[in-house]
Amino acid sequence: MASIAIIGQGYMGNAHAAAWASAGQADAIKYICTPRPKEGSVPAAKNAKYITDLDVILKDADVKYVSVCTPTPTHKDITVALLAASKHVLLEKPIALTVADAKIVADAAAKSSGSLMIAQVVRFFLGYQKLREVSESGELGKLLSVHARRFSPKPTWATWLGDESQSGGMLVDFSIHDFDQINMYLGKPVEVFAAQTSASGPAEITVKYEGGGVGQVQSFMNAAEGVPFTSTIDLLGTSGIAHYEFSAISATEESSSGNNAGVNSWHVFSSKGNTVEQIASDDPYGRQVKYFFDQASSGGKYDLSPTPSAIAALQVCLAAKASLKEGRPVAISAN
Ligand SMILES: NC(=O)c1ccc[n+]([C@@H]2O[C@H](COP(=O)([O-])OP(=O)(O)OC[C@H]3O[C@@H](n4cnc5c(N)ncnc54)[C@H](O)[C@@H]3O)[C@@H](O)[C@H]2O)c1
Repeated sequence: MASIAIIGQGYMGNAHAAAWASAGQADAIKYICTPRPKEGSVPAAKNAKYITDLDVILKDADVKYVSVCTPTPTHKDITVALLAASKHVLLEKPIALTVADAKIVADAAAKSSGSLMIAQVVRFFLGYQKLREVSESGELGKLLSVHARRFSPKPTWATWLGDESQSGGMLVDFSIHDFDQINMYLGKPVEVFAAQTSASGPAEITVKYEGGGVGQVQSFMNAAEGVPFTSTIDLLGTSGIAHYEFSAISATEESSSGNNAGVNSWHVFSSKGNTVEQIASDDPYGRQVKYFFDQASSGGKYDLSPTPSAIAALQVCLAAKASLKEGRPVAISAN
């Protein structure tokens, strides 16, 4: 088995290491690369050498798979270097902070003999996957509107996350998952209108689509103490409706323990009948890594999480930010 490297030893570096372990690849994690290595800070990577120099990984032909779990401003340069060295890269969302940088990353992937998948993990939750299957089966008819919500307490593990110039702020760092979902169902976004109660308050964003569909995203990253991480999605079609709701202490804790302390259920009500199901346990990060590994090892095509979708989601995030700033609907440009 070829080796794996993880760039970053923080929150997501640990989530990816646990995910690689859950995919049976813990022993293959050869390096953790980070500016200030702390031996043992990524316990799931028990054989890893902690290093500071990305060049070691670039030059090590044994390393074929790399998880990039660093602060967003570093995504472009690290990923472009890895792709130039023919690595298969699983890059944390958001792909970049600007569409121009995202396109540089995508171009580097197109030229590489390695490959790129953006880790839009929401696409790998069982419930989100179930709703996608139901919609693709035609059971809901033509989708008319999609509503997605995401709430969490304020993230406290990293200071850079609180700096909008580095994280992109809530509408980029957090809401991107939901914009990605509503785009996936409704197609080409054309106009975005966002409103927010205050700079740190909840935001409501309406997205209009070329085919006439309307999407709505509700985001809040300052939920009261005791409110667990929660995300929901609702599909409304001409032949039925579908709903998924996830609620746990944190998405990552849920995936590593498999223990769901909150709600994890979906239902479909359609002209074909009604189904209500609970999901007993889920491991979306593990499933994401497994999919990345399988696809990377067999041609590097990532239909479940294609890079153009990650860029389209970023475009909506940036238009939502512009709408908030300007207080009016903002058109999504064609490029
Ligand atoms: N998919 C999800 O559920 C999810 C959740 C949280 C964060 N994220 C994304 O994951 C990425 C990382 O976020 P995080 O919360 O793990 O941040 P973090 O601050 O917890 O960890 C970042 C790590 O990267 C290291 N680092 C910084 N600059 C580096 C460089 N140039 N080279 C190598 N290592 C470097 C830091 O020392 C730290 O170890 C961000 O893009 C964030 O948006 C995704």
